Amino acid sequence: VTIRRATIEDMLCMQNANLNNLPENYLFKYYMYHILSWPEASFVATTTDDVGGPADAVLEELAAGSGCRVSATKGDPCYVRSGEKLVGYVLAKMNDDPSQPSEALTGHITSLSVMRTYRRMGVAEKLMRQALFALSEVYRAEQVSLHVRQSNRAALHLYRDTLEFEVLKVEKSYYQDGEDAYAMKKTLDTEA
Ligand code: ACO
Repeated sequence: VTIRRATIEDMLCMQNANLNNLPENYLFKYYMYHILSWPEASFVATTTDDVGGPADAVLEELAAGSGCRVSATKGDPCYVRSGEKLVGYVLAKMNDDPSQPSEALTGHITSLSVMRTYRRMGVAEKLMRQALFALSEVYRAEQVSLHVRQSNRAALHLYRDTLEFEVLKVEKSYYQDGEDAYAMKKTLDTEA
């Protein structure tokens, strides 16, 4: 698996992965907004081997049998270019919300996900470390924020234990289905 900066050509596959992996989905223009405004902040994980292919198909069949929400194209491998399959992404930005002013320059992780058959291999950690580095080095972020579902043990482990984010507060009913979110923050080492 290779980690590289996300480009405009990756946007459709990033959206496809997001639809597969998370209930928080965004309009295509929101992906474009990220990549046009902060072109160096988002990353993708891709592979040229096809080990995930058949397993992906089996998982999708299982999901279909269990009545899970799947569409015709959902779970199909998404190729960003010939032979290069997208297996994960991190969509990141700087905070530009005037209603959330902050003294420190703040980066934000909008969305992170890894396709099921490529999980537990360190892909998300690598994507996150690249994004944190870029936010700090390119956009001078002094801290980075994100939201995560309280029930999301995998992501919580990654953010809190592996990447040393801290929980700032609980945001009640942050998600559409009423679940609370942890608002998390990591202070970045900035050199003078
Ligand atoms: N349970 C417990 N710990 C886990 C799990 C799990 N299911 N999955 C990963 N971890 C741990 C790993 O053991 C590792 O810990 P370590 O540093 O102590 O060894 C750490 O988390 C990082 O593991 P990775 O292999 O890098 O994580 P992975 O590539 O599997 O991706 C992710 C993790 C992104 C959460 C993945 O499970 C996923 O895509 N889930 C669905 C989408 C999602 O929940 N995204 C995050 C939403 S929040 C947001 O987008 C801001």
